[in-house]
Amino acid sequence: MSKSMTMFLATAFVATASWAESLPPVDVYKSPSCGCCNSWVAHMRSAGFEVRVHDTNDVTPYKKKFGIPYGYGSCHTARVGDYVIEGHVPAEQVKRLLASHAQVRGLIVPGMPATSPGMEGQSDRKDHYDVLLLGSEGGLSRYAHY
Ligand code: CU
Ligand code: CU
Repeated sequence: MSKSMTMFLATAFVATASWAESLPPVDVYKSPSCGCCNSWVAHMRSAGFEVRVHDTNDVTPYKKKFGIPYGYGSCHTARVGDYVIEGHVPAEQVKRLLASHAQVRGLIVPGMPATSPGMEGQSDRKDHYDVLLLGSEGGLSRYAHY
């Protein structure tokens, strides 16, 4: 094989690999006045995600539409690929889920734990919290613990 052909194939391979690993955009549904939502958006952007913000005065319809169980909601609801991401879920867990291609609905951090991304510095509490996996049938299990 000629040297230029080898170079061409190497370049094509790199281009394909980086495309395959690129992150899908995140659509966030949140109240226009929510500060911790903005902080989570900043957290996701600094982790490399393109985030499209959709301000709405009522996020409840989105939680219903995406199947968030009653009582497990947080301040904002997001969509990435075919997954729903509810609340202050760490970006690294979103990446882990995307890389796994798991046949599930998504991830949830219920409420607003004081130590979760976007909530830091708002209080002195040192909350531990779980990231929950929302299964394809709507069941919940622990995905990560902080
Ligand atoms: Cu919040
Ligand atoms: Cu929020």
